[in-house]
Amino acid sequence: MNIPKTIIWERDSLQLLDQRRLPGAVHYLQISNLEQAIDAIRTLAVRGAPAIGIAAAYALVVAMSREEHTTAVSFQDRLAALAERLRCARPTAVNLAWAINRVQARAAADPCLGAIRDEAEAIHAEDRRICRAIGAHGKRLITPGCTVLTHCNAGALAVSELGTATAPLYLSHADGVPFRVFADETRPLLQGARLTAWELAEAGVDVTLICDNMAATFMARNEIDLVLVGTDRVTANGDVVNKIGTLNLAVLCHHYGVPFYVACPSSTFDPDTACGKDVPIEERDPAEVLGTAAARVPARNPAFDVTPADLVTAIITEHGIARPPLADALADLMSKPGLPFN
Ligand code: MRU
Repeated sequence: MNIPKTIIWERDSLQLLDQRRLPGAVHYLQISNLEQAIDAIRTLAVRGAPAIGIAAAYALVVAMSREEHTTAVSFQDRLAALAERLRCARPTAVNLAWAINRVQARAAADPCLGAIRDEAEAIHAEDRRICRAIGAHGKRLITPGCTVLTHCNAGALAVSELGTATAPLYLSHADGVPFRVFADETRPLLQGARLTAWELAEAGVDVTLICDNMAATFMARNEIDLVLVGTDRVTANGDVVNKIGTLNLAVLCHHYGVPFYVACPSSTFDPDTACGKDVPIEERDPAEVLGTAAARVPARNPAFDVTPADLVTAIITEHGIARPPLADALADLMSKPGLPFN
């Protein structure tokens, strides 16, 4: 695949692909301190739940390696102070807190730079295997001749490689299965138009761009066989929090009898949050919505929505496919030890 890597980690140097500039320019940001990492996450230079987690883990390593070494404050306390600042960068994707917690847990057992570096590298390496496993489980849903609608970008750019929602697509494409993808534009920041349509086309997948408000029309015409999206958090009851507009698709799928699938790694499962209404939904700058609007009117900009579990056909994870009742199926799948494809 010709898609540039989202995150480059070489000899303790962290570079993030600046996704704000895609597809026009392939440009990397050098991350040399915590503030730069927080800014990159907040402004969506790096985005997508798993990529945010990986970037955060490496950012802690970079920031700790540049910290003043003083005997007065312990390694863990210095790490905790940085972690608290980083944790607030974006509130909705649980992978951010998950990755930070993993780095902190490692430091609790072994408080040194080498240990947290190993942990960040492990998170990154696991992500690659997890995406491959999601693809292997999910590709059986991609039948010859089908048309898949996806929303936002849960692609290679949102992870280390292959993507979550796109992993079954890339693996099916590699197997020679003929299928077609519709990519929603994904207002207001156009992750679908700028990122998903771009990366699928770069990989040679048959992709067609549509505006968000066209999905109903194509479903009514029986032109969409399934919807497949990623997620930023799945709560204990199976509610799915994802890019604003995902709920619209799930409601449409219910009306038109189209299966609604979600793909995610286990790091996106949040068993400690009972249901979607308990998840903090990021509300971004209204300027992103106003864009070229002529009038200076108020605008609202929630970045994510909650799809209730009962609208979800199944959730594809690295451990297998969870089907309703999702709460039980997810608890069962997530309790499986180890990783597939080690
Ligand atoms: O605001 P973004 O671009 O970070 O939102 C990304 C999404 O909503 C993705 O669908 C989700 O993070 C899954 S990425 C594998």
